[in-house]
Amino acid sequence: MTKVLVIGSGGREHALAWRLAKSEGVEKVWVAPGNAGTGADSRLENLPITDIEALRDWALENKINLTVVGPEAPLSKGVVNVFRAAGLLIFGPTKEAAQLESSKDFAKAFMKRKGIPTAEYESFTDPQAAHEYVRAKGAPIVIKADGLAAGKGVVVAMTEDEAHNAIDDMLSGHKFGSAGARVVIEEFLEGEEASFIVMVDGKNVLPLATSQDHKRLLDGDKGPNTGGMGAYSPAPCVTDEVYEKTMREIIEPTVRGMAEDGIVYTGFLYAGLMIGKDKEGKTTVKTLEFNCRMGDPETQPIMSRIKSGFAQTLAAAAAGDITKGGIEYDTRSALGVVLAARGYPEHPEKGAVITGLTEETDDAVIFHAGTSNDAQGNIVVSGGRVLCVVGLGDTLKQAHDAAYRTADQVHFDGVQKRRDIGYRAL
Ligand code: AMP
Ligand code: GLY
Repeated sequence: MTKVLVIGSGGREHALAWRLAKSEGVEKVWVAPGNAGTGADSRLENLPITDIEALRDWALENKINLTVVGPEAPLSKGVVNVFRAAGLLIFGPTKEAAQLESSKDFAKAFMKRKGIPTAEYESFTDPQAAHEYVRAKGAPIVIKADGLAAGKGVVVAMTEDEAHNAIDDMLSGHKFGSAGARVVIEEFLEGEEASFIVMVDGKNVLPLATSQDHKRLLDGDKGPNTGGMGAYSPAPCVTDEVYEKTMREIIEPTVRGMAEDGIVYTGFLYAGLMIGKDKEGKTTVKTLEFNCRMGDPETQPIMSRIKSGFAQTLAAAAAGDITKGGIEYDTRSALGVVLAARGYPEHPEKGAVITGLTEETDDAVIFHAGTSNDAQGNIVVSGGRVLCVVGLGDTLKQAHDAAYRTADQVHFDGVQKRRDIGYRAL
């Protein structure tokens, strides 16, 4: 397994490709389409192809041994189906299995049917019925567009007015197009969120190190929801009890349940957890959402900690046997802080020149996301989330300090970054 292809262009894909390139037996890693960071790394090569059939043809021609998919869009378009039909080894869920992320209604109905703990819900296409449901339930309440909306399709409405507006935007205003033609309305859950990411080979599960991200734009978890402004691993809120409960009540029944329904799940599976307490004070773990991929930015700190040959683990999982060997982790903590463009998440501004980028050291590495090269050879901002700087340290505080030491040397006009990544665990 010498030639590897990573599909995607974000920080998650840079971290994945970076880790795979260091993996024993890997000759070369291509990233399609990649970014300025993956393009600058001598062990990686960018491949400017995004069309799924064209990628398959290229992979066949170049005898790619293993393909890994980063983002949800190509998965939900069936990249895994297409590669498998051509006899190529690829790690990810099929289009059918990716519905766990691409349709909230599919995921909620599945969880209800299989008794997997999640918020109570109803789904609607008729605005009148949706408004009535909100009047009956009251606020706070959560309105979600059914389809993929790049992390923007969820409104946590603290008042009934906000909920009614969200319904109007999605069902009548077509704010998310067909993705919002159906909405899921669900019970508001309280507690602490964590990201629980596992690898699934169709039957067996190999959990990745625990992590937690920060979804809000501003310090203190204020401001609008984003794709994630920083993350760290391990996450102390995932105690042994939470871990056991998550595996037993959420992950295992999901993998088993999908197989029972004839949709065998392979690939990364990410359960967004809400860890809370019931009336008796007992710990509860509920599923906020499923993603059919790794998290971004959670992947950046997780990959920074993996020590073993991750390419072998992925190939085994893709071939349907993950049980051979586990993953060895650096015992240090890793913490990643995202540098975002001015205007992110609503209207990110592109074009600012980035300076102060440094080579990786033993305790810091800069992963690129929305970056590209301009005609003068500068590295410039080309997307909302621009970079993720990961620091490592014996304690989370040391990892935090290492990350910010490096992040604070990087500059571009309008840079936004939170200063408090990891605060819940510090
Ligand atoms: P999702 O994309 O479904 O994970 O939702 C995005 C964010 O909205 C989550 O990370 C939570 O912070 C919040 N959220 C989603 N569902 C709920 C819920 N039922 N109760 C409270 N907050 C929620
Ligand atoms: N960081 C959250 C996600 O990847 O969905």
